[in-house]
Amino acid sequence: MEDQAEKLREIMKRKKDNSLKSSSVKSGKAADKARIITVTSGKGGVGKTNLSVNMALAFARLGKKVVVMDADLGLANVNVMLNMIPKYNLYHVIKKQKTIREILVETEYGISIVAGASGFSQIANMGEVDRKDFISELDTLSNADIIIIDTSAGVSSNVLDFIAAADDAVIITTPEPTAITDAYGIIKIIATEYDSLNMGLKLVVNRAKGAAQAKSVADRMINIAGQFLNLKVDYLGFIYDDTSVPNAVLRQKPFMVVDPKCKASICVQHIVDRMDRNKPSESAGFGAMLKRLFGSSQQEENLV
Ligand SMILES: Nc1ncnc2c1ncn2[C@@H]1O[C@H](COP(=O)(O)OP(=O)(O)OP(=O)(O)O)[C@@H](O)[C@H]1O
Ligand SMILES: [Mg+2]
Repeated sequence: MEDQAEKLREIMKRKKDNSLKSSSVKSGKAADKARIITVTSGKGGVGKTNLSVNMALAFARLGKKVVVMDADLGLANVNVMLNMIPKYNLYHVIKKQKTIREILVETEYGISIVAGASGFSQIANMGEVDRKDFISELDTLSNADIIIIDTSAGVSSNVLDFIAAADDAVIITTPEPTAITDAYGIIKIIATEYDSLNMGLKLVVNRAKGAAQAKSVADRMINIAGQFLNLKVDYLGFIYDDTSVPNAVLRQKPFMVVDPKCKASICVQHIVDRMDRNKPSESAGFGAMLKRLFGSSQQEENLV
């Protein structure tokens, strides 16, 4: 763990150096840089891919040029959700046969996707150098305003690297105790792995019965993260548990397209409106607030 933390710090340092370099090349104009948003969860199946794809559509409605990258390097599913079988995917990028830009495909929904690679366990566990190269390739998508990265569930070096590269790290959970515990787990790892990150951690509660239930789940997690990890997590919003979602998944179309007025669609549009209003700051961010904290506590263990 110590070794991995050391490597990640090194990546962060290089990332900082690189971003300094690139901002001078781009005359320091923040507008040139795509906003990178990662969508992560502790537990699988809580709604990352649905949120990533539909959030992309909502940003596109605001006139943004959006790319969704399926960074699940073991079990890709963005293209399945959109009923597309792109010829090339991240497998070809990682094998250095294609660049990310070359495998980018337009969808019929006004967003572009970078397809993930399914069933290649050696990619899911790619080495640090490959990962770093791969993440630095994101810079080549500089035409995009927003890059949304749908990660795999849980904590791996891949996921942590993507989070480190992000402007906003969205953590998604459902109100289920297991999902909450796992979401807290990933927040804790982010807090302990990095001394400081120039980004914000944002929480979305999916499949909620309503605003009150979602808010109480969020409040609890945010309070505990603040108290025990000294970490500021912002509540970004919730999404109703809504049958329009599985119905759209079955049709392999985004629910924002199949049913733009459904409760889930309205919630996603609210989340995106909020994100659009709160753009990440170039300088400070939440960096100072992301501090390492150690020690266990009884209350922390009793999260759920
Ligand atoms: N708001 C919702 N209302 C109802 N069902 C939902 C909602 N969000 C997700 N689901 C259900 O959960 C399933 C899993 O969602 P999704 O594929 O987005 O999760 P995931 O976190 O990307 O999963 P994985 O970890 O396997 O990549 C969907 O197919 C759908 O049936
Ligand atoms: Mg998924």
